Amino acid sequence: MGFKHMLFLILFLFHNFTVFTKAQMPGFLSIDCGGEKEHTDNLGLEWTPDDQIIYGIASKISIENETRQQYQTVRYFPADNRKYCYSLNVKIRTRYLIRATFLYGNFDSNNVYPKFDISLGPTHWATVVISDANTIESQELIFLASDPMISVCLSNSTTGFPFISTLELRQFNGSVYLTPYESQFFLSVSARINFGADNEDPVRYPDDPFDRIWQSDLVKKANYLVDVASGTEKISTNLPIITGKDELPPQKVMQTAVVGRNGSLTYRLNLDGFPGFGWAYTYFAEIEYLNPKETRKFRLILPGAPDLSKAIVNIQENAQGNYRVYEPGYYNISLPFVLSFRFSKTPDSTEGPLINAIEISKYVEISDGSFDGPVAASLVSGYKSLNWAQEGGDPCLPVPWSWLECNSDGQPKIISIKLSSKNITGSVPSDLTKLSSLEELWLDGNAFTGPIPDFSGCPNLRIIHLENNQLTGDLPSSLANLPKLSKLYVQNNLLSGYVPSALFNKKNIVLNYSGNENLHKRSSAGRVNKYIIFGLAVGVAALCIGFIASCLILRRRKKDHKQEPKGSFIVSSMSNTLSNTTSEGAQCFTLAELRFATKNFETKIGSGGFGTVYYGKLSDGKEIAVKLLGNNNIQQGKKEFANEVSLLSRIHHRNLVKFYGFCQEEGKDIIVYEFMHNGTLKEHLYGPLAKEQRMKWIKRLEIAEESAKGIEYLHTGCVPSIIHRDLKTSNILLDNNMKAKVSDFGLSKLAVDGTSHVSSIVRGTVGYLDPEYYISNHLTEKSDVYSFGVILLELISGKEAISNESFGMNCRNIVQWAKLHIANGDIQGIVDPALGDEFDIQSMWKIAEKALMCVQPHANVRPSMSEVIKEIQDAILIERGVEEGSSEELSHNSFHSSLNMGLVDTSIDPHLSFHESMARPSAR
Ligand SMILES: *[C@@H]1O[C@H](CO)[C@@H](O)[C@H](O)[C@H]1NC(C)=O
Ligand SMILES: *[C@@H]1O[C@H](CO)[C@@H](O)[C@H](O)[C@H]1NC(C)=O
Repeated sequence: MGFKHMLFLILFLFHNFTVFTKAQMPGFLSIDCGGEKEHTDNLGLEWTPDDQIIYGIASKISIENETRQQYQTVRYFPADNRKYCYSLNVKIRTRYLIRATFLYGNFDSNNVYPKFDISLGPTHWATVVISDANTIESQELIFLASDPMISVCLSNSTTGFPFISTLELRQFNGSVYLTPYESQFFLSVSARINFGADNEDPVRYPDDPFDRIWQSDLVKKANYLVDVASGTEKISTNLPIITGKDELPPQKVMQTAVVGRNGSLTYRLNLDGFPGFGWAYTYFAEIEYLNPKETRKFRLILPGAPDLSKAIVNIQENAQGNYRVYEPGYYNISLPFVLSFRFSKTPDSTEGPLINAIEISKYVEISDGSFDGPVAASLVSGYKSLNWAQEGGDPCLPVPWSWLECNSDGQPKIISIKLSSKNITGSVPSDLTKLSSLEELWLDGNAFTGPIPDFSGCPNLRIIHLENNQLTGDLPSSLANLPKLSKLYVQNNLLSGYVPSALFNKKNIVLNYSGNENLHKRSSAGRVNKYIIFGLAVGVAALCIGFIASCLILRRRKKDHKQEPKGSFIVSSMSNTLSNTTSEGAQCFTLAELRFATKNFETKIGSGGFGTVYYGKLSDGKEIAVKLLGNNNIQQGKKEFANEVSLLSRIHHRNLVKFYGFCQEEGKDIIVYEFMHNGTLKEHLYGPLAKEQRMKWIKRLEIAEESAKGIEYLHTGCVPSIIHRDLKTSNILLDNNMKAKVSDFGLSKLAVDGTSHVSSIVRGTVGYLDPEYYISNHLTEKSDVYSFGVILLELISGKEAISNESFGMNCRNIVQWAKLHIANGDIQGIVDPALGDEFDIQSMWKIAEKALMCVQPHANVRPSMSEVIKEIQDAILIERGVEEGSSEELSHNSFHSSLNMGLVDTSIDPHLSFHESMARPSAR
């Protein structure tokens, strides 16, 4: 396997390597580079050798303790200025993980550690730097396929020979890796860690059906998970973990975790590829038993990113139970190379933080590829069986194909094509005429037939070699119009007719048309078959034999070129990718599907600021609410809309209505979310339903607590935090079990951010609108607090926020009205008569006072949602205490009257009644 052998191989052109995915796992492909035989490894992965490749050299290596067959060989390539590509078939609009691994093993007996680049199509993927002969280097990208074929190319070696050990392709089928930047950025995986691992082995296939490699946190490496806080303890469970979505970490990863018994978890690790913008997600599942008094609440602390610390994780709450996965994260976060992070328990939490797994990827900007990429792809697709057409990857990037040259524009253009003596048959491909920057064209010495095409689309052509082919027809006069043409060789073809006089008269041109029996000069006889030289380029002309081809359609930039199907070969599916991505995250429904589900929008179940809501039932029986957004609201493009909904659909909280998906067709913007059986809070507070079935005070408090938690999560659990902007009783929905969920969050963003100027429009509903926001247009979380205060007043009074009748003379607004009564100590005056006396006046006061704090004119004195929640919970404890008490001897009324005496005295400890009642055995 010496250098001589390699030089010999350089004479061959690199052969395309196309592999169809095999049966084992759909969308799995494992290439054993340099391997000889197919084999199945002990994980059950089927490895295919790359022996169809005629380029590069397969070489055996031997590493102690490395028994896997795919690591007994490598394939290496010349250290020249070419690229060497593996081309793989993929399904478009499908997300994949691609992993390339490199185990040097001193294959060349040089002990020179190689350094070279790998690229995915035109995009620089990574620089592979080998620093140890016995360690496997690994690079992973997650990408959405936009083309039916991808190419992984090795090039630019600075030391040693480029080589590769394995290439693995794994298909995803969900949306965990959906990002809003998918069409512009790949995700380059930097860290994927399984915390609390049992041993040093990574978790991968078959435990992970997508064969992601979850590194054990026990692996000892330099700068890998160091600075571990004292009190860090490993925990695990054998109980199943509900992961919900397919692509969440596998159960085996989620069944182990670390907890910070001393209140913190800290780690430091180097992130390859960073600093930069990345995608970082954490995976939590509560796998310890917590009794009802124990809580586990914690925050992430990242040095230099104080904003991120606002979000509070409460796994049980967010995951809606134990042994369930909660996966908060940031889809665009700036991270340093040396990452130190800490999870710290909140002061009110009894337990320390817990973490099961983490995944961090860097955004790698997808190269647009060369300007002529689509044309070049179309060109070579006509010669699939010829080696030169199968070099793979982009024509110019990261280095050009061996037979062409490109300029150095940001989006490079092809300036020279050299396909002399390649034994090419058929007509001169018209794709050549679309290369608008082409300066030199060498097609001599092939077996081209048919006419010379029109090269008007290549105004920069200087040199055309078409000699020694079998071209027929005229010598097109359009050639004379190429302003820069200085050499035209068409000799020894089967051309006929007359040489256009314009060509003859052209200055400074070398023209050779000899050897064409039937091609004549028009004017004086006897001067045929001569080669005529205008101008000075005699020396050069002697070397060449002439030729002609022709260019036609001037190519425009591929981006504004959608109408031309051929030209969009490579970029064809770049647009639209997101909207067609089916995923559990946010499904793209068709209008037909939704028409069917809603029986052509038959049953209207609500309407609001953003549109009208219809009831629907999918063919699988799932009930849905279909919101047809008003036309004036959404100003966004399809992709932005899809992105926004997809992101909203990733916000999970038990008190937030779940998004299922969206539809954008026929100018309609539609959002699909879970159907809530019991309608809106508004309907239950007033209107016919309220009269039939009055809602008890305790139920109202529970609804207040639940919706407040949903809002709190929007404010503190999401970064950047989400301000609802349109909280009202008709946006609080009730499910089967009368549990409350907040709906319509994020929609105002959807409606507003599409056009920049609209953000100056105040959004919200009269009666709920924060007056300070209205005046200053400065929006904060406290605007939602104001609206929530109004909702609390409605829960107390059973009256609408704005009414012409309810509030007496000169007052239309619930806030003014309630303030007046409360200020006078007259709480009974505002309490919903439907509640009778079945409430505890103490809890009523608590809520009333907090509601007034919420509707303070100045935002800075309003409480946070967390404070409001605490107050509601206290009120609930009081109310439950009353219920417990009433089942005892103590009569309801006497309890009340005894408390009524202290009507305005709010200093009574609300916990007292709770603890007392808890201490007593229940009568039941
Ligand atoms: C992430 O955010 C930064 C700064 O806000 C922005 O410049 C960048 O384009 C965003 N997206 C990615 C993929 O980096
Ligand atoms: C050229 O092509 C012909 C037929 O297509 C084939 O028979 C011949 O071997 C080829 N020559 C070379 C040098 O590849």
